[in-house]
Amino acid sequence: MDKKVYTISYGCQMSERDSETLTAISTKLGYSRTEDLSQADLVIINTCCVRESAENKIIGKIGQLKKIKEKKPSLVIAVAGCMVQQPGILERLQKRAPHVDIWTGTFDHNKFEELLHASLCGRKIALISQREIDVSEVVPLAEKGKLHVNVNIMYGCNNYCAYCIVPYVRGRERSRPKEVILDEVRSLVESGCREVTLLGQNVNSYGKTDGFGYDFSDLLKAMDKVDGLFRVRFMTSHPKDLSDKLITTVAEGEHLCEHFHLPFQAGSNRVLQMMNRYYTREYYLERVHRILDEIPEARLTTDIIAGFPGETEEDFEQTLDLVRTVPFTQAFTFMYSKRSGTAAADFPDQIPLEIKKLRLQKLMGLQNTRSLAWRNEMVGHNCEILVEGPSKSNAELLTGRTRGNELVVFQGNEHLIGSLINVRIDSANSWTLFGRIEFPKERR
Ligand code: 5AD
Ligand code: SF4
Repeated sequence: MDKKVYTISYGCQMSERDSETLTAISTKLGYSRTEDLSQADLVIINTCCVRESAENKIIGKIGQLKKIKEKKPSLVIAVAGCMVQQPGILERLQKRAPHVDIWTGTFDHNKFEELLHASLCGRKIALISQREIDVSEVVPLAEKGKLHVNVNIMYGCNNYCAYCIVPYVRGRERSRPKEVILDEVRSLVESGCREVTLLGQNVNSYGKTDGFGYDFSDLLKAMDKVDGLFRVRFMTSHPKDLSDKLITTVAEGEHLCEHFHLPFQAGSNRVLQMMNRYYTREYYLERVHRILDEIPEARLTTDIIAGFPGETEEDFEQTLDLVRTVPFTQAFTFMYSKRSGTAAADFPDQIPLEIKKLRLQKLMGLQNTRSLAWRNEMVGHNCEILVEGPSKSNAELLTGRTRGNELVVFQGNEHLIGSLINVRIDSANSWTLFGRIEFPKERR
């Protein structure tokens, strides 16, 4: 009988990428994917621990699976990723969720096949290696025929921002050699991929700790020449390492999307220093101006944290001011969440929840108005879209993304999926642009 795998992925693109690898390993073993949990023989939950809210959601989800497993004891439940990798957490998780069959961290993807075999023999198993996986041991696997694929160019992070758990669960920064990445991308293109997002916690420091003799800009230049690849995206850029060379490379590259995800986190220098971010507000603004001077059509998105320990009303006002100053098309806004083991968890002056909530609401309100104003400005303009597929909210319509990563919904024939077309924008809301096809571009 055909066995089915159902995957639930939490967290960032990096985690999404890992979910794809774990799912692909199971499909290699004969499982086929399902979108219907009740059909599943294997459930993979790939977790995130960057904020407490994510963890609570995941723990709730694991709890819900208990009933399903009671009805179907052959169901294998695997919980993987960042949440499980946190030091000293496994025992607590196992006690809370004895119905889980496989617990595994962020460094054990290559053992997932063995873990699955062991659990199919009826064993409960936990494998959370502390040894960082070597980049050469990584087997990134992707579903064949996908139009857009996330590609890891590096793993881990060396920055130790005071609030962030990532360096503790994903280890030190390691980069994959250029040729290995290029080979992966070429084979993805052969199987139908047209757009890649190059992933790293801090892509601007690509290769620095590995002594490659080439940097992220050089990697992008090589990517730009891959035959058949329409678009190259990248994230995340740490402002402190964003070089002039990178800006010029993006300006000159034919297939390099003019989109910078440039988290600023906080607008006050005092808070930035406490956060260990190694840049000032002035430096951040200078980088933004440099990007927009050289690439006027560039799109900027950001991450912002409200309520970091010790953040005063004046500090927060400076965050709002930065949002008013920089034309972000989108901002991912978060309430500070205390993560045990990080430096900021022990800082005095933790901000009360009510104040954090209020600040977050203000921030979101402001950015929504800014995003809407920005999208309204695009009305009447033409955009290049890579057509992705039917719209999630209305299957009669198609969606695609601009080079700046804005979502566009429009009417069109399904044969356009996978091609670049021009769309004229007719209207907008805070999240989406609505348009109509102008004329097909020649390249298909
Ligand atoms: N609390 C709130 N937000 C956080 N982020 C990372 N750690 C925390 C935390 N402890 C946010 C940052 C980062 C994004 C991926 O998540 O803004 O850029
Ligand atoms: Fe976390 Fe900072 Fe590294 Fe980003 S750069 S993953 S926020 S430590």
